[in-house]
Amino acid sequence: MNNKRMNDVIPLLLLFVLTIISQGHAHYSLGKEKITHLHFFYQENLNGDHPTAVLVAKPKDTVVNASNLAPFGVVYVLDTPLTEGQDPNSKVVGQVQGLSVSAGQDKTMLVFMADFEFTSCEFNGSSISVLSRNPILETDRELAIVGGRGKFRMARGFANLHTNYMNATSSVVIVEYNVTIFHYE
Ligand SMILES: *[C@@H]1O[C@H](CO)[C@@H](O)[C@H](O)[C@H]1NC(C)=O
Ligand SMILES: *[C@@H]1O[C@H](CO)[C@@H](O)[C@H](O)[C@H]1NC(C)=O
Ligand SMILES: *[C@@H]1O[C@H](CO)[C@@H](O)[C@H](O)[C@H]1NC(C)=O
Ligand SMILES: *[C@@H]1O[C@H](CO)[C@@H](O)[C@H](O)[C@H]1NC(C)=O
Repeated sequence: MNNKRMNDVIPLLLLFVLTIISQGHAHYSLGKEKITHLHFFYQENLNGDHPTAVLVAKPKDTVVNASNLAPFGVVYVLDTPLTEGQDPNSKVVGQVQGLSVSAGQDKTMLVFMADFEFTSCEFNGSSISVLSRNPILETDRELAIVGGRGKFRMARGFANLHTNYMNATSSVVIVEYNVTIFHYE
């Protein structure tokens, strides 16, 4: 190929590449941002035949018992229902699945990595992803929302938590959530 022909071909190639890039851009356009507020209760119960969290790992020589459920280094797997009301028997509106890692040397501090999938109404099958420090001994705290699926694709946001009920003897904890989600669908 001589130089003259190269000079003809290069602009054509550039045009081709730019066309692909601009089509890609159009395909990923997100639309208008929306804000959704959700309110529900997290129902933890470590007792019974179906505990909502199970201990899967702990450091050698660390004791985990009812009076010390989350010493540094322990890992729980969660599958915990979310309900409409504070009553554990109220309607289930979602399910939390993920990990809770105890990551505080000096005080009880969990880190949550979990998918909160909703099962009711317009958000059935959609979820938010939480990746956040969760200082469970503080009655009021905030979690970060870093993503989502379905209607919550590309979500960001935050959840305000308030522990409504905590019984160390029965290992039952009920936490109220007010969630603010920025999303596009
Ligand atoms: C839990 O383990 C700690 C440390 O071994 C011990 O001091 C405490 O008495 C235990 N508590 C219960 C309820 O077993
Ligand atoms: C939610 O979606 C699932 C799966 O598509 C379906 O089986 C279920 O009936 C739906 N629930 C509600 C409350 O719409
Ligand atoms: C959630 O919002 C309701 C209504 O504004 C309020 O009464 C409640 O205290 C809030 N709870 C949390 C945990 O933010
Ligand atoms: C905590 O749980 C124990 C065991 O189930 C129960 O006997 C006790 O009444 C509960 N305490 C409160 C304040 O609900």
